[in-house]
Parts: sequence; structure tokens; C-alpha cells
Amino acid sequence: MIGREKSRPVRYRDRVSQPSILFVCLGNICRSPLAEAALRKRAVAAGVAMTIDSAGTGDWHTGNAPDPRAQEMALEHGVDISKYRARAVTEDDFHKFGHIFALDQQNLKDLRRIEPARHIAEVGLLMDLVPGRKGTAVIDPYYGDHTDFAQAWADVDAAAQALVKRYSR
Ligand code: 4NP
Repeated sequence: MIGREKSRPVRYRDRVSQPSILFVCLGNICRSPLAEAALRKRAVAAGVAMTIDSAGTGDWHTGNAPDPRAQEMALEHGVDISKYRARAVTEDDFHKFGHIFALDQQNLKDLRRIEPARHIAEVGLLMDLVPGRKGTAVIDPYYGDHTDFAQAWADVDAAAQALVKRYSR
């Protein structure tokens, strides 16, 4: 069970209009921009059209570029995220996006606090998409080093591959 409804591989809405996916972490400068980058790369490679964005549950970094270590990690994988800018998640996002994925359990709790009573989005934990990783977090690499950013990339890329598989026809 993801969010408030039974999860199914591809919803009708995702067939009639392209899937729209929002990744949410705390600051929107490390993990969720990496998730955005990994999915953009995988979606382009697979020829799958998607609307992809990322946001933070906090607004401290609004308008900032991703953490330089996240930029470096994305570049190592061929994606330039230097133009991404951080923003805070809003109530409106629950009406705009079909799918909102939290990078860790606290992000999911925080999303549930601002979740409007009625909305269209599937809200869930990102790593629930990855076989064998249900209930696990993409660990925050902010206080870590290159190895931690590499692990974050590996995690979000595994989820990106699962998403592309879900929406490939
Ligand atoms: P993120 O990482 O949630 O993956 O973007 C963090 C970025 C900034 C802070 C914490 C986590 N911070 O405390 O400023």
C-alpha cells in the first residue's frame, strides 16, 4: 500500500497524460535533486516522457543551487544540475503532481502534515519502489562525504530505473 490507495503498476491518468513525479527531501539541495537528475537521465535514455521536479520540506535553501558535492556526483553520471534551484514543497504540489516520493520517513511524515484533505497525488516512500528496499531511506549525505553522495546516487538511480520500468510501454 502506497499512500491512501492501492498501488497499481500504471494508473489510467498516467496513460492519458504523462506521469508527473515530484521528489521531496529536507533541503532540496542533495538527495531530491539527485533523484530528479537520475530520473531525467533514465527517462531520456528510455524515451519515456515524464514531468519531473524536486522540492524540500524545509525552505532554508530556497533559490540555492544544489550542494556542490551533489553537483559533482550528478556530473560524474553525466548530468549537469548546476541550474537546478531549491524550493519548498507546497500544498499546490499535491494537486499538480500524480506522484510525490519522499526520500526518507521523516520527509514522508512532514509531507503528511501539509497534505491537503483531498488531492490527486500518490504519496509514498521512494525506496518502496526498489525490490528489497521497502521501508528504507535514502540516507542524507549532507553531513557525509563523497562515499555517502555516491550511495545516495546509487539509491535514487535504482528508484529511477524502477520508475522508468513502470512507465515504459
Ligand atoms: P537534503 O540534504 O535534504 O538531501 O537536501 C540536506 C540539505 C541541507 C540540510 C539538511 C539536509 N540542512 O540542514 O541545511
